[in-house]
Amino acid sequence: MQQNFELRVAIFGLGYVGCVSAACLAEMGYGVIGIDCDEKKVGDVLNRRPPFFEPGLENIVKSNVAAGRLTASTDVCAVSDADIALLCVGTPSAANGNISLDQLRRVVASIAETLAGRTKPLVIAVRSTVFPGTCEEVVTPLVKDYPLVTVVANPEFLREGTAVHDFMQPSLVVVGGHNRASVELVASLYAPLPKTPSLVDLRTAEMIKYACNAFHATKIAFANEIGTLSSCMAIEPGQVLATLCEDTKLNASPAYLKPGFAFGGSCLAKDLRALNYGAKRLDLHTPLLESVLPSNNQHLDRAMQVLLDLPSKRLGFLGLAFKENTDDLRESRVVNLLEGLLGKGRSVRIFDPHIRIENVYGSNKSFILREIPHIAQLMDNTIEETLQWADHLVISQKLSPEADAKVKACGLPIVDLVSSSLAYLHSNSPAFA
Ligand SMILES: NC(=O)c1ccc[n+]([C@@H]2O[C@H](COP(=O)([O-])OP(=O)(O)OC[C@H]3O[C@@H](n4cnc5c(N)ncnc54)[C@H](O)[C@@H]3O)[C@@H](O)[C@H]2O)c1
Repeated sequence: MQQNFELRVAIFGLGYVGCVSAACLAEMGYGVIGIDCDEKKVGDVLNRRPPFFEPGLENIVKSNVAAGRLTASTDVCAVSDADIALLCVGTPSAANGNISLDQLRRVVASIAETLAGRTKPLVIAVRSTVFPGTCEEVVTPLVKDYPLVTVVANPEFLREGTAVHDFMQPSLVVVGGHNRASVELVASLYAPLPKTPSLVDLRTAEMIKYACNAFHATKIAFANEIGTLSSCMAIEPGQVLATLCEDTKLNASPAYLKPGFAFGGSCLAKDLRALNYGAKRLDLHTPLLESVLPSNNQHLDRAMQVLLDLPSKRLGFLGLAFKENTDDLRESRVVNLLEGLLGKGRSVRIFDPHIRIENVYGSNKSFILREIPHIAQLMDNTIEETLQWADHLVISQKLSPEADAKVKACGLPIVDLVSSSLAYLHSNSPAFA
């Protein structure tokens, strides 16, 4: 990615994100102007001090204002020199939980007022945290009459208290937009930093920020619930969590972090039930852990609704066990789906390469016969039989490469429960009043 220190950057909002971004970009060598409607913040920067305390910020504000790379103004017209406008205004919570976009709307409207007669391109990069769709539905319409202006999303991931360090050593750099050149221009700003920018589309960039914060919050709540439960049982909580983190294959890793089908099997649900029961006996409320099985059931219900909504007459399921490469049927959520579909009068057939019903025995057998007594009559012995019979396929288990090739070649419509999220089936519902 080409890096160009001639780029002029205007930063709107000299708060925690804006002032740190302004000082750090100036420190990297860019010419930066911070624009804020708050005269005190602008005055502070012009007087070579940050408007708030953040470790390491004072030094770089001081040296970069002195070097002439960083300045500040209350005048929006200062954007006229800029190639990139980074919007770092606040997006506080409204009373109903939605975010307030008042500051964002106002700042974009004020930029739009400066655009008549502009002759050089301007990329507006929204660094504030905004709900997916905001750039398309709120920001872009305000500048749509100016073809030289493009909008990208460039969320910020820094943390207060380590903000300068986080900016210079980012955990993630994300730029999203429809215009590739604009996305690459904004990404090029960060080229000297030790993290390759992830270039995505506009809504994806906005969503990633929310996904990250929701993930961080969930991790903290999880650690606190497990930690409290451990303490209540005289188990050292720090050791439990630290040891959990030693597993970087399954625990602190990308494992399981993919949207797909509801989990099943004989262990996860059973052990969560036992943990929640144990917490209850201690009079301990663990809402996060208690919510996991209902969440999983909800996901199963969504899958069921998707399948019930299909115009299909003959649904061919590929996979019956709770996951690939096993013949374990206990708590397989595919069985729940089949039960529901059969109950609603749908025709199904199933192929699973590792299951011959006549060979299933023990707890596996009693489970499947209790749920679907005539399961043997629904099973095919070869994938070809299922592909020939079905008018629609449901991939309910990760396929082998050979099975995958056969599925692709057969040309039947597919619902892939495993490798894609069901969310795409819901219509876009913009949340902007
Ligand atoms: N604070 C964090 O740790 C952090 C981290 C990542 C992302 N974010 C997100 O970044 C955004 C900014 O957060 P913050 O903590 O820096 O907010 P902040 O409230 O500290 O700063 C916002 C600044 O915008 C200025 N402003 C408001 N309207 C303006 C206008 N029309 N023109 C010019 N300036 C204007 C305000 O005067 C204020 O100085 C939010 O969306 C937040 O969710 C914050």
